[in-house]
Amino acid sequence: MNETAERRSTKNVRAFLRDLPKTELHLHLEGSLEPEMLMHLARKNRVDIPFRSVEEIRAAYRFTELRSFLDIYYQGMNVLCGEEDFYDLTMAYLKRAAADGAVHVEVFYDPQGHTARGVPIAAVTDGILAALADGREQLGITSLLILCILRHLPEDDGFATFRQAEPWIADGRIAGLGLDSTEKGNPPGKFLRLFAAAREAGLKLVAHAGEEGPAVYVADTLDVLGVDRIDHGNRALEDPALVRRLAERGITLTVCPLSNLRLCGVTDMRHHPLKRMLDAGLKVTVNSDDPSYFGGYLLDNYVAVAEALELGRHDLVALVRNSIEGSFLEGPVKQAHLGRIERVLETGG
Ligand code: ADE
Ligand code: ZN
Repeated sequence: MNETAERRSTKNVRAFLRDLPKTELHLHLEGSLEPEMLMHLARKNRVDIPFRSVEEIRAAYRFTELRSFLDIYYQGMNVLCGEEDFYDLTMAYLKRAAADGAVHVEVFYDPQGHTARGVPIAAVTDGILAALADGREQLGITSLLILCILRHLPEDDGFATFRQAEPWIADGRIAGLGLDSTEKGNPPGKFLRLFAAAREAGLKLVAHAGEEGPAVYVADTLDVLGVDRIDHGNRALEDPALVRRLAERGITLTVCPLSNLRLCGVTDMRHHPLKRMLDAGLKVTVNSDDPSYFGGYLLDNYVAVAEALELGRHDLVALVRNSIEGSFLEGPVKQAHLGRIERVLETGG
């Protein structure tokens, strides 16, 4: 394809995907902290950072694996201090998601990354929830909030956070419990009691698995923690029996292509396993994970795989459908969004 034709085709794919009603199911709010906001908040809150400019911050975003990213990610979130900071962070993300054609998002936050610095969990949670409510009203984007537990910390620390979050769990404004941070060496079984308690409390359950950890972590996340959805799940492909089980049970996997590329899980987007996962019958979705750090929001992730893997409309629509079906929305709302996909396709998508 010559350059002009290539540009035109990129534009068409982007416009086509933009119009389809999508959800985003794997997004860390702290990972949407853009360098400009990071710099601004560091100055406002008088937090020392080892960067003098936005360019220096961007230059530091070169990662070799998950751990090298997490070091920078935890350092970055230190500039978030007051309720209004969490509001602004969340609102900025919602505007980007809405501009990408997302109709619904299920977002993660890491309270332990803030309470350990003395920021009250109420400032964090209320700031985020206020923005989610305004996003619903002002942007028409619906949302659910998922509290993530840091798996490199002891389970007891996670339990303490779970208890601190009780007021928002009780009133339903925290909808789910997730598990993130360093996967290797922190197997799912470490959080067995906490996930059982969260299930008892009526929370939806999700957990990162198979991002860097082996296929057995994906199996144990399903069997031991009893999750409703797996975040990433890429390495499940190493176990064909597990793949069949995930496919038969219709377990949604929240795959994050640009994240996998930037954290060196894949060396080239053309080798990304997403197409193989789809072809194996897995319920794969596309998500941005930590868009500020990985160079792209929701639509950028769709376009990246569409082009690199030469996905046709059939696969792209399947990914968007999976994102609606794999969400924690109520059945009739899912049906309404699925109906909108059909209408977009009928009216010249
Ligand atoms: N926290 C933020 N992003 C993460 C990722 N990609 N994996 C594990 N923990 C995370
Ligand atoms: Zn993640």
